[in-house]
Amino acid sequence: MLIYLIGFMGCGKTTIGKELAKKLKYEFIDLDEWIEKKSRSSIAKIFEKHGENYFRKKETDALKKTSKLKKKVIATGGGAPCFNENMELMNKTGITVYIEMPAGALFHRLSNSKPNRPLIAGMLDSELMEFIMYTLPQREVFYSNARITVNGMKMDIKKLVGQIKEEIGEI
Ligand code: S3P
Repeated sequence: MLIYLIGFMGCGKTTIGKELAKKLKYEFIDLDEWIEKKSRSSIAKIFEKHGENYFRKKETDALKKTSKLKKKVIATGGGAPCFNENMELMNKTGITVYIEMPAGALFHRLSNSKPNRPLIAGMLDSELMEFIMYTLPQREVFYSNARITVNGMKMDIKKLVGQIKEEIGEI
C-alpha cells in the first residue's frame, strides 16, 4: 500500500509524512529528494538549467517508479498532482491525502523559505501573496480529487491513521 501526501508548498507534507510513516511502520519518501538523488542535482538547479517542463517530466518519471513500491508514505511536490495525469496515477496506486491549508497560513510559512523553492525564489512578500491567491484555486481543482482531505491547521495524526486504515480495509 502507498500513501501519497499532496498539497501546496509549505502545508507540511514532509513533516506530517515522516510522522505518519513512523506510525504506520512504512518507509518515508520525499519525491523531490528522490528526484535530486536520481539526477544528482538540486531541484533549484534542475529548474535553473532545464526549466519547469523538464522538471515536471522528471517528477512524473519519479512518480511512475515510486508507484510500483509497497508500504511507503510519499510526500509529493506541491505541483505534482496538477501535471501529466499524476493525480490519476496516484489515485490508482494508493491513498491520496490532501493537506488543506488557507492562503494566509501558507503565506506565513513560505515567506521565510522562499530561496529554497524555485517557483517563489526572489519574490517580494506582496508577489508571494499574489502567487498563492492565483495558484492555490487552480491547484485545488486537482487536490480536491484526493481520497482523504485533512485540515493542516488542526493536524491529528492518530485520526488520520484511523482514516487511512479504514480506507485500506475497503480495498
Ligand atoms: C513545487 C513544489 C516544490 C518542488 C518544486 C515545485 C510546486 O515542492 O516540487 O519546487 O510546483 O509547487 P514542495 O511542495 O515540497 O515545496
